[in-house]
Amino acid sequence: MSDPAAGRRLHVAIIMDGNGRWASGRGLPRTAGHRAGVEAIRRTVEAAPGFGIATLTLFAFSTDNWRRPRGEVDALMALLRRYLRAESDRLARSGVRLSVIGRRDRLPRGLGAEIAQAEMKAAGGDRLHLRIAVDYSSRDAILGAAARCAAGTPPSRESFGRLIAGEAEGAAIDVDLLIRSGGEKRLSDFLLWECAYAELCFSDRMWPDFAAEDLAVAVADYRRRERRFGGLGPVRPPAAVATRASPAAA
Ligand code: IPE
Ligand code: IPE
Ligand code: MG
Repeated sequence: MSDPAAGRRLHVAIIMDGNGRWASGRGLPRTAGHRAGVEAIRRTVEAAPGFGIATLTLFAFSTDNWRRPRGEVDALMALLRRYLRAESDRLARSGVRLSVIGRRDRLPRGLGAEIAQAEMKAAGGDRLHLRIAVDYSSRDAILGAAARCAAGTPPSRESFGRLIAGEAEGAAIDVDLLIRSGGEKRLSDFLLWECAYAELCFSDRMWPDFAAEDLAVAVADYRRRERRFGGLGPVRPPAAVATRASPAAA
C-alpha cells in the first residue's frame, strides 16, 4: 500500500450511470433501469462500511438531468421519494447518516419536506455518511460559494470549501476515490472542487449491475495507487500544505 493514509476511512463518490442503457439492452423502458438502479444503491450502501468507506456520495440527479423528457424526470423523482420513505428508518437503524446535497427549490411539491424528514430520522449514524446528490451541479455550488464571499476578504481553501459544501454539511470533504459506472469517462459536473486529487475509476459495468464485488475491486485498486499530491513519493493529503502555500489563506 503506497498511500501513507492507507487504512484511513475513505470518501468515495459514485456517478451512477448506465441505467438507461441497461434497460434498453433488455428491451425495457429506461425507467425500469432506474428502478433496478435503486437496488444497486441498496447493495452499495450496505457494503460500503465493510470496505473502509466513511462517506459515500452518490450522484442521483444532475441539474442538467432536468433536460430529460418529463416522464423520465417524474419517474426519477417518484423513485427518490419512495427510496426515502422506504429506507430512512432502515438507514437510521444501521447507523447510516443521510444527507441530500443540491438544490431543493425546484423539486416536486412536498419532496423537500420529505428529504428534511428523512435527514432528521437518519441524522445520528456514525457507521457511514451517505450523501445523495439531487438537482446537483458542482459549477453552481462553486458559483454560489463565490457569490457569498465576493465582497469580503478572499477565503482560504478550507473556508471556501465549507461554502461550497453548504452550511449544514460542514467542510467539503475531498473525494479519495471517484467511481463512474456505465463506461463513460467524464465527471458531468460532479464534485469538481472536491475531486481535485481524487483517484478515478471508470467501470464498464452498467449501474444496475454494479455489485459489492465491483466496489471491492475499485477500493482495492485505489489502495494500490500512490497518491503524491504534487510532492515526491507518498505524502499526506494537501490540506495543511495548501493552507501554507496559498496566499489567499494567509
Ligand atoms: C444514470 O443513468 C441515472 C441518471 C442520470 C438519473 P442514465 O439514465 O444516464 O443511463 P444512460 O447513461 O442513459 O444509460
Ligand atoms: C451523470 O450522468 C448524472 C448522474 C449519474 C445522476 P448523465 O448520464 O446525466 O451524464 P452525461 O450526460 O452522460 O454526461
Ligand atoms: Mg447517463
